Amino acid sequence: MSHGNGLNGHARRAKKALGDRVIRCGVVGVGRMGTHHARTYANLPGCTLVGVADMNEERREAAAEKYGCKAMATVDELLSAGVDAVSVAVPTTHHMAQAAPLLEAGVACLIEKPLAADVDEAAALKELAERTGSVLMVGHIERFNPIMRALKKEQASGPPIIPRFIEVHRVSPMTFRSVDIGVVMDMMIHDLDVVLMLMDGQEPSEIQASGVPVITEHEDICNARLTFDRPYGRCVASVSASRLALKTERVTRITGENAYIKIDYAAKKGTVIRRMANAIQMEEVREQLRRGVDLTSLKWQELVNIENLEIDDSEPILEEIKAFIHAVRTGERPEIDATAGFVNVRTAKRIVEATRADWRAWSPLPEVRGAAPVATPPPQERQTAR
Ligand SMILES: NC(=O)c1ccc[n+]([C@@H]2O[C@H](COP(=O)([O-])OP(=O)(O)OC[C@H]3O[C@@H](n4cnc5c(N)ncnc54)[C@H](O)[C@@H]3O)[C@@H](O)[C@H]2O)c1
Repeated sequence: MSHGNGLNGHARRAKKALGDRVIRCGVVGVGRMGTHHARTYANLPGCTLVGVADMNEERREAAAEKYGCKAMATVDELLSAGVDAVSVAVPTTHHMAQAAPLLEAGVACLIEKPLAADVDEAAALKELAERTGSVLMVGHIERFNPIMRALKKEQASGPPIIPRFIEVHRVSPMTFRSVDIGVVMDMMIHDLDVVLMLMDGQEPSEIQASGVPVITEHEDICNARLTFDRPYGRCVASVSASRLALKTERVTRITGENAYIKIDYAAKKGTVIRRMANAIQMEEVREQLRRGVDLTSLKWQELVNIENLEIDDSEPILEEIKAFIHAVRTGERPEIDATAGFVNVRTAKRIVEATRADWRAWSPLPEVRGAAPVATPPPQERQTAR
């Protein structure tokens, strides 16, 4: 267990696995997301929720009463009480300041997505976790959506999908939350995490992006085309996100050499069309086309063998926290570690930069208050800017 003296600047190294003992947990920031973390720890066997820390007195008192733990104003109080594992769910711009003393003290951190608001802070958190040996997991919750477990099962069962292109749509009406950041860091980051996971963590070699600021000074709607040079050839991902839509949709379509997969995160549904399962019909169709047969009366939908992915109904936040606690108990690297969180932030920033670089050519120029000046890259670099 870690105590307040961890703040004296002497980082502990190589954090030991905690085995079967009760894990002492805490949450920093009990707003919209942090409340779910607190509820989950309070109900998770083998864990005890020691306290919730929030600068807002009303919120921390309400959460502490509801989940039977202590209300605290600061991370220092959590450290003094002794915690092993803490969720950091303060606004993204405060992740670094709140997580750093915890990691320094050897406390495992589950940091809400995105890991940090900029690349330098994401790199600093990654370096800190590596230096101290503290567990750092990033809360990219879509990875714990039942549809992702179904996708993994699918990947393990048949021939490899070998993605060739991926189309992503994540749109929703404006909620007026997270307006201090653009739609890329707010919403698209979920899909970047999944796309980069499908690319085994490899970052895109080329990025083209276009986005429009409508009611905030950031991009509120954006499309990015990411090109990945894979050992098996090219894969292209077209990723669209909007917080100005009139409907909600979170859909990804993966077209691979051996299968087409559609996943719908919101509906928790997925379908797969395998090459193998359709091989005989397709060969017949090809043969008839070769012979010049008129197939216009054939119904494609009836010809194709479509399977539904098998979905369980486990709650994503519960699965996410169980994975985090597993890493804390065993000392194993969490699936979404600091490196994954870092490359997600770096890719998101490259998309934002590519979008903003384009704004310089607009007439009239978009009103971007407080934005960092964008260097005008030469035309070729615009597409590959890092
Ligand atoms: N995984 C997801 O799907 C998802 C969805 C929304 C938000 N998020 C992320 O979760 C994090 C929190 O977002 P939210 O929507 O819950 O925010 P929120 O504003 O609802 O809650 C943040 C809480 O942190 C507290 N806080 C702020 N600064 C603090 C500080 N320095 N010390 C202690 N407490 C402090 C606030 O008082 C508030 O209670 C963000 O990083 C956001 O990107 C993740």
